[in-house]
Amino acid sequence: MQRDRAQDLDEADALAPIRDRFVVPPGVIYLDGNSLGMLPVGVAEAVADLVTRQWGVDLIRSWNKHGWMDAPQRVGDRIGAIIGAAPGEVIVADSTSVNLYKLLVAATRLRPDRTVVVTEVGNFPSDRYVIDSVAAQAGLTVRAVPASDLVAALDNDVAVVTLSHVDYRTGHLHDLPGITSAARAVGALTLWDLAHSAGVVDLNLSARGVDLAVGCGYKFLNGGPGAPAFVYVATRHHDSVSQPITGWLGHAQPFAMRDDFEPASDLRRMIVGTPTMVSLAALDAALDAFVGVSMAAVQAKGAALGDLAIDLAQQWSPDLVLASPRHGSERGSQIAFRHPKGYEIVQALVARGVIGDFREPDIIRFGLSPLTTRFVDVYDAMDHLRDVLQTGAWRDSAFAVRNAVT
Ligand SMILES: Cc1ncc(COP(=O)(O)O)c(C=O)c1O
Repeated sequence: MQRDRAQDLDEADALAPIRDRFVVPPGVIYLDGNSLGMLPVGVAEAVADLVTRQWGVDLIRSWNKHGWMDAPQRVGDRIGAIIGAAPGEVIVADSTSVNLYKLLVAATRLRPDRTVVVTEVGNFPSDRYVIDSVAAQAGLTVRAVPASDLVAALDNDVAVVTLSHVDYRTGHLHDLPGITSAARAVGALTLWDLAHSAGVVDLNLSARGVDLAVGCGYKFLNGGPGAPAFVYVATRHHDSVSQPITGWLGHAQPFAMRDDFEPASDLRRMIVGTPTMVSLAALDAALDAFVGVSMAAVQAKGAALGDLAIDLAQQWSPDLVLASPRHGSERGSQIAFRHPKGYEIVQALVARGVIGDFREPDIIRFGLSPLTTRFVDVYDAMDHLRDVLQTGAWRDSAFAVRNAVT
């Protein structure tokens, strides 16, 4: 395939102009939006305004004057529009891991007579650690099974099935509608970790009957390093859901300063403490990049970018083993290859400005952000990958030095 063909695909791409909503550093092909999304235009100004004017001048008055108190719900609703949730079903708070803990405990409380938590073998480590911890506290059994056995693992003992929607290594996309309805059929709840799907997959959460979900603000939502995460709770659970970290801002009347805890009547009950306003302002402004964007179109482009990358890599770099599903409908917006020297190969690519990442034990991972990644970027990245492999450029000893973040 010639590069012209990739250029043709870009010319025909209705999402291509959205790239202008981002700050694109020169000399970089960025294929790591699944770890840290790119900086959208306007975020730096929004953060500067929050710091210099709202914090610097208006000080404490900003909690009322600039709507800081409402920000978790307001920004939550903006994320809700992207993930197919109704207004009031999403709130922004804490990190994904902390939110998973809160919702997992909440799920076990909603199903007090059940004794099993189902998850997948190889789930994201943080999720697995939280699941094991909650199960130990609550005296529950964790049933961790391969993806292919998930539906068979569901029975009347299961309180909740909790999964990462997209496998962080391979990009495998679970059948969210199918697993959600299978769980409902046995009376179990679903708790989805949308870390790698929010912002790239047409999720339609409410319509699909999902009970609970969490997700990251800093990956494909582009909210910036350490951006706060989000919590989704279907409206039908709002009256009965309760979470274990009963902080003052989850109270019905935080400033009544009462001794007893009464949860807020709405999803504010999922908040614990003071919102992280600087990063919330960044996330809020970042979401402007999604205005008017169809998530179905985003998902379709992500699949097409992945198809192109896989076609080229398989043609040019036969030493790589495809770790991702071949079909776009079974992938999130990321692809992965296995190679015993994956770490060194990724470092050699990064040195050329082609930024992907590495995951143990041998995964070369590329995130494909449909709002910013062009088909020519994929073409050029795969061309560099071919060159790094064919020339053995990865053998330079500098590329074997392990960084803290891989
Ligand atoms: C699937 C998944 N879940 C959870 C997390 C953890 O998120 P946090 O660091 O916000 O707790 C990550 C982070 O990369 C992730 O990929």
